Amino acid sequence: MTAVAGAVAGAAYIVAALLFILSLAGLSRHETSRRGVTFGIVGMAIALVATIWLTAAAAWAEPSATTGLVLLVIAVVVGGAVGLWRARIVEMTGMPELIALLHSFVGLAAVLVGWNGSLYDTGLTGALADIHHAEVFIGVFIGGVTFTGSIVAFLKLSARMSSKPLMLPGKNVLNVGALVAFLVLTVWYVITPELWLLVLVTLLALALGWHLVASIGGGDMPVVVSMLNSYSGWAAAAAGFLLNNDLLIVTGALVGSSGAYLSYIMCKAMNRSFLSVIAGGFGIEAPRSDDAELGEHREIDAESAADLLANASSVVITPGYGMAVAQAQHGVADLVAKLRERGADVRFGIHPVAGRLPGHMNVLLAEAKVPYDIVLEMDEINDDLSQVDVVLVIGANDTVNPAAAEDPGSPIAGMPVIRVWEAQNVIVFKRSMASGYAGVQNPLFSRENTQMLFGDAKEKVDDILMHLAAGAKTAGRA
Ligand code: TAP
Repeated sequence: MTAVAGAVAGAAYIVAALLFILSLAGLSRHETSRRGVTFGIVGMAIALVATIWLTAAAAWAEPSATTGLVLLVIAVVVGGAVGLWRARIVEMTGMPELIALLHSFVGLAAVLVGWNGSLYDTGLTGALADIHHAEVFIGVFIGGVTFTGSIVAFLKLSARMSSKPLMLPGKNVLNVGALVAFLVLTVWYVITPELWLLVLVTLLALALGWHLVASIGGGDMPVVVSMLNSYSGWAAAAAGFLLNNDLLIVTGALVGSSGAYLSYIMCKAMNRSFLSVIAGGFGIEAPRSDDAELGEHREIDAESAADLLANASSVVITPGYGMAVAQAQHGVADLVAKLRERGADVRFGIHPVAGRLPGHMNVLLAEAKVPYDIVLEMDEINDDLSQVDVVLVIGANDTVNPAAAEDPGSPIAGMPVIRVWEAQNVIVFKRSMASGYAGVQNPLFSRENTQMLFGDAKEKVDDILMHLAAGAKTAGRA
């Protein structure tokens, strides 16, 4: 019975793995993303049912294994209920921290699986036992780093902890030292698998994960989140080796490699090398960032902004995190429709790290049914900006900061940004002169062609719509 059950579960795992691959492929494009999510859900449902089936078959064959089945059912019910509850109430702006928290669970699970693998007598001898011990050690290490690293990322993203980097003296030496110690301890554990070594590597991994993310500044958090995503995948793959579960290995490798690729894209978008991110950088106090240096800023009201837009033939909108906070995307979509009706050429310029998670702005704009073909990436829009009449910067800040391009002393120097200041007119929607996520002043606000529209972005977009409608009526009567 168990051999048959194993074969059925094995086949189900292959189907689930294929569905996960199709899911990733679907998620890579707007048009197919819904299908991608459906594939992922079906794949996960098949994987869960196959795992329960396998455990039930084991319990049927060997009644002492019933405890495992009961624990599994309890875990699935409790985990499913909590997951459903959180997913229903989470705000879009809270997604990054929720994801960071979920990564921490994967890390913790890998640590527990590793510990279980060390305490459980596998009966292996010779080279196979050595491989098993190496798997235990590596799994616990990756899991531990992922666990505390993700908790710090969660605390930073949810502003429960300062996003400023922790600057311990010799922090790079500490990180490299911890890696070297891990390598030495791994060899030691394979030769003499003693429990104290496992305790030591667990503590080392927990401390390293904490330090690694605590010492990274705010601006580098996008890379950190995708890096932890990758680690969580490798942690799951390590657990898969220990549990002899092919699906966990395949899924872990998919998550690990796609997370690594995402980290690469993020690093490229921010013109950073992966190692320099790990070593910390963005968010470190700028050598000079004087308020006085910024100069005066000009303000505009919604009515004048509506006038400017009514006379513009080309408009570019660069949204940022503030659009998500204000939930202004629907108003923005209405504004786009209204301006296009009037004959204006309207496009979006999306920075790769705008918002707080990869693709954040694209998701919001898709939700508001903005046509995909006018949503362009930073590199597609940057060279056209000098020909644009009006740029609306809606709740974006770091991603449109000229200091990144022009001030080598700036903490975000070298990060590619959307060059909105090249347009004829720039209107910045935000509530105050506060800095963005990286904590860096923005000289855009005091440029001659920039005007600040202070207030909640949604309210201001609605006000502009109202004035445009009123203006159209007046024009109709005239
Ligand atoms: P930010 O630089 O974070 O600036 C957002 C601006 O929105 C703030 O300056 C804020 O100014 C304004 N704002 C907030 N609520 C608002 C509201 N209700 N109405 C109007 N404005 C509002 O945004 P960005 O340009 O999108 O840059 C993203 C930053 O987050 C980058 O530093 C990036 O590295 C980091 N980050 C990104 C990710 C990913 S993966 N995308 C993940 C983690 C971190 P006021 O307070 O004055 O209104």
